[in-house]
Amino acid sequence: MRLNDKVAIVTGAGQGIGEAAARLMALEGAHVVLSDLNESSGQAVAESIAQAGGKAEFVRADVSRREDVQALMEHVRERHGRLDVLHNNAGVHETNFTDKAQSFELDEEVWDRVVAINLKGTWMCCKYAAPLLAAAGGGAIVNAASIGGLVGYPMGSAYGPSKAGVVQLTRVMAVELAAQGTRVNCYAPGNTDTPMVQKYYNNAPPEAARMVEQQLLGTHLIPRLARPEEIANVVVFLASEESSAMTGGCIVVDNGTTAWRGMNEA
Ligand SMILES: NC(=O)c1ccc[n+]([C@@H]2O[C@H](COP(=O)([O-])OP(=O)(O)OC[C@H]3O[C@@H](n4cnc5c(N)ncnc54)[C@H](O)[C@@H]3O)[C@@H](O)[C@H]2O)c1
Repeated sequence: MRLNDKVAIVTGAGQGIGEAAARLMALEGAHVVLSDLNESSGQAVAESIAQAGGKAEFVRADVSRREDVQALMEHVRERHGRLDVLHNNAGVHETNFTDKAQSFELDEEVWDRVVAINLKGTWMCCKYAAPLLAAAGGGAIVNAASIGGLVGYPMGSAYGPSKAGVVQLTRVMAVELAAQGTRVNCYAPGNTDTPMVQKYYNNAPPEAARMVEQQLLGTHLIPRLARPEEIANVVVFLASEESSAMTGGCIVVDNGTTAWRGMNEA
């Protein structure tokens, strides 16, 4: 097992990619601390992992709130005394909050909230987890970026820059935490079949709907959405010793979207 007896935190573990990653980490032998803003979904996933024989517990935390992040890390310190893996998965898109998601109509509050969760939340979790990772001899941080941080697309004026920021934060923290033996990497999924993507698709205004539809499927060399479990495979690779020669890196997992300038036939 690739994560035997490792202690791992997964933020945003109540659904989607975070849920798939938490389930796979438990199968790989980790003790998984699932965290989410949504108590009922996070708790339900933790219970379902435990019922299947995995080691899992749930701690509610909003990653954009310093007090919550500190309490999460304090829980891990008291309970386990160490941390081996921090998976910064929690993230939101403009369309989680509004159907006016294009840059020229977006509310300032939505822009602030997206950046506070995706970028500042990732930084705060890294900051407060760093001493626990050091206590475990280094460990690994795995950050959720996105191809939205690598290429432009509509309705992502906060999301895209926040995810580009995650790519750069990954590099900076890889440099700074190298001395304590912590590897820091990120991955950039393309469109993956989760509630977030369904909301993005459903909220497209008529004038952007065609572009969104083309973008969701037309640009995929592998012509389908990725499954959360396929992204979880990359997360576990980056969390485990299999990626021991990688730090500061970004793995693109996007069904081939950013590899070409073509478009499948409609
Ligand atoms: N689905 C995709 O196509 C896709 C593509 C690229 C990147 N990503 C990234 O992967 C990550 C997971 O995406 P997903 O599609 O599974 O999303 P999702 O919306 O399905 O799930 C996100 C989870 O995060 C939780 N969450 C939201 N705000 C939070 C907060 N402030 N604190 C703690 N938890 C919070 C939600 O309750 C939810 O359980 C995100 O960072 C997202 O940006 C997703």
